This record gives sequence, structure tokens and C-alpha cells, in this order.
Amino acid sequence: MKILVTGGTGYIGSHTVVELINKGHECVIVDNLYNSSDKVLGRIKQITGVEVKFYKVDIRDKDALEEVFKENNFDAVIHFAGLKAVGESVAKPLEYYENNISGSIVLYELMIKYHVNRLVFSSSATVYGDSFTSPLKEEYGRGKTTNPYGSTKAINEMIIEDIGKANKDFSAIILRYFNPVGAHESGLIGERPNGIPNNLVPYISDVVVGKLDHLNVFGDDYDTRDGTGVRDYIHVVDLAKAHVLAIEHAAKQVGVDTINVGSGNGYSVLEVIKAYEKASNKKIPYVISQRRPGDIATCFADTHKASELLGFNTKLGIEDMCKDAYNFIKKNPNGIE
Ligand code: NAD
Ligand code: UFG
Repeated sequence: MKILVTGGTGYIGSHTVVELINKGHECVIVDNLYNSSDKVLGRIKQITGVEVKFYKVDIRDKDALEEVFKENNFDAVIHFAGLKAVGESVAKPLEYYENNISGSIVLYELMIKYHVNRLVFSSSATVYGDSFTSPLKEEYGRGKTTNPYGSTKAINEMIIEDIGKANKDFSAIILRYFNPVGAHESGLIGERPNGIPNNLVPYISDVVVGKLDHLNVFGDDYDTRDGTGVRDYIHVVDLAKAHVLAIEHAAKQVGVDTINVGSGNGYSVLEVIKAYEKASNKKIPYVISQRRPGDIATCFADTHKASELLGFNTKLGIEDMCKDAYNFIKKNPNGIE
């Protein structure tokens, strides 16, 4: 298939482009480079041998995006482009709604206009909010979101469901990611957020390479096996492979389906620290600090639907996630420059 990948130079997008190419698909990337570098394109070429067509376009720019649709006869779209920092979304809600909702609407309008009927959308376990108990099942629907970022994901899900009701040929898979971590085993692509990382594994990576002197563990008094927060970490390469299965599945059916993408296993913060210490052979200094507002004790996926509908099961474990995160940060301490 010829696939438009919005946000394709970003963290999850770049890994997905590699896996799509490995499976013989043709990718065209659209990204405004707000949170990524065009150097990623060279890295993708190093890994796959393929030069991917790239447009530096903001998806909110309808005229520019329409040119991309006119020039290419797409079979499908995988939509990653968006802003993703939970804390920032609380401070700048309108930027988040404008980018993540208005941008998506422009994209969906053009998909309908150009009869591109297959979509995979990046949603998040955050749409479950704090309303349900893990393992989280798709059939629970959406809970009360706790920040504007989460709301943009919930609203996108609703928009896609409504497009599906109005267009009998439309086919979409909404993927609800749990906690994507790690990097491609080559160490050529991966994630190093700008500034001080908010998420656990990128933060640990910065500690391991000496950019930060210790990790703050946000609370050790949760009702979990060691008191620290439990999350469902998934290797980004496994997650990327789920997208290939999802877009191939969308090509065979019509209607809208929502699918969790996690491993189904929860790991505590202290367990992740241990796994990273083992993978890097380095001590990770940490201090127990206050709970982070908005955090919940435990979040992990029920993965039956992904397994049954897509035939998707994770292959890489927490050791691989830490080993590959470490390999990437060692090779790219300042990210992909
Ligand atoms: P990322 O920031 O690395 O990638 C997103 C890409 O989209 C970036 O390259 C950015 O430059 C681009 N972009 C943003 N706004 C754009 C616009 N208006 N027009 C064109 N390009 C634009 O993030 P990621 O971690 O790869 O996440 C990809 C998607 O998955 C996002 O939608 C994110 O919300 C979602 N998601 C991520 C996680 C996670 O933990 N990483 C979890 C759940 C869901
Ligand atoms: N944590 C620490 N110290 C840190 C960072 C995180 O102890 O410096 C803890 C958190 O308290 C939590 C766990 O590590 O228990 C994981 O935290 P992350 O920030 O890595 O991930 P979250 O589960 O909080 O958030 C992630 C994504 C969000 C998404 C959410 C739900 O970053 O985008 O999952 O899917 F909304």
C-alpha cells in the first residue's frame, strides 16, 4: 500500500515507517518538524536502504496538505502528528486543541475528498482516565480525561467514530497505546525529548549518561507491590509492528475498531530502574519524592483484542526496552542532530 504517515519523523512514526518498509509498503511522510528532525530521514535510509518521500508540511495548512494528496494516490493514512506533553497541555490548552483537533479535521476532510478510506490513529490509554481498574478493556469506552492532551485524544476518537457512521466505505483502527519506550536496535532512531524529560525511561536515560544526577521516584506509597506506580511498557518496535498489522487489517474491513496496544504486563518504577541497571551495567541513583499530581497507581492493558483481531503479541520484554533505550542514548546523547 502507499501510505501517508503524518508525524512520520517523530518517535513512534519513524519506527513505524521502518516496519512498513520492511513489509513492502511505500511511505510518504508529512511532518512540520516541530518535535523532530529531518535527519531522521537519513537514519531511516541507513536502516532500510529506502529514501522516503518527505513533505515539511503542517497538517493544519489545508492548501499545502491538499497538494500532497493531489500528488500522491494514497491507499491509507497513519496519523501520528500531534502534540503530546500532558503537563504542557494543561498550561496551553488551546494550542493542544488547535493542533490536535483542527489539524486532524483538515486531514480527515482531505481523506474523504480524495477517497482515502483507511486510517490508523494514535490514541492513548489516557482516554480511560482514572475511571476504570486495570486490566483496561476497550469495551470500557472512554473515562473522564484528566488533561487537555487526553481530551484531544478522546475527541479524535469520537470524530473518527462519527466519520465511520457517515461513510459506509470508511475503515479505521484507533490504537490506544500504553507506555511506548525503547528504540530501534540499530541505535539510529529513538527518543530524546527536548529539555528535561517528563517520562520515566527518557529521564532514566539522561541520568545514566550523566546529564541528570538522579531520578525522582514519584511516590512509594501507592497500593502496588512495592508502592511505586505500575505501567504497561511496550517496546516501540513492537508498537510499530502493531501499526503494520492494523493498517493491513483496515484494508480488509470497513467500520471503526478500537484496540489497546500494550504488553498486558505492569512494571513498577523500581522494577524499571532494576532492569535499566542490568541493561546498562550502571547504578541509577534515585530519591523517593512526592507523588506527581494526576498519576494513578496502576495502568495496564487487556491485550486480547489485539491478539484476536490483529494477531498482535509483543515479542520484546523490559530488558530489550532498557537495552535499546540505553544503546540509543549512548549513541545520541543530544537526540538525532
Ligand atoms: P513525537 O512528538 O515524537 O511525534 C509527533 C510528530 O508529529 C513530531 O515529529 C512532530 O513534529 C509532528 N507534528 C506535530 N504537530 C504537527 C502538525 N500540526 N503538522 C505536522 N506535523 C506535526 O511523538 P510520538 O511519541 O512519536 O507520538 C506519536 C503520536 O502517538 C502522537 O499523536 C502522540 O500523542 C501519540 N501517543 C504517544 C505516546 C507516547 O508515550 N509517546 C503515548 C500515547 C499516544
Ligand atoms: N515516574 C517517576 N519519575 C519520573 C517520571 C515518571 O517516578 O521522573 C513514574 C510515574 O509516576 C509513573 C511511571 O513512572 O508511575 C510512568 O510515568 P511516565 O511519565 O513515563 O508515563 P505515564 O504513564 O504517566 O504517561 C504515559 C504517557 C502519556 C499518556 C499516559 C497514559 O506519557 O502521554 O502514559 O497512556 F497519556
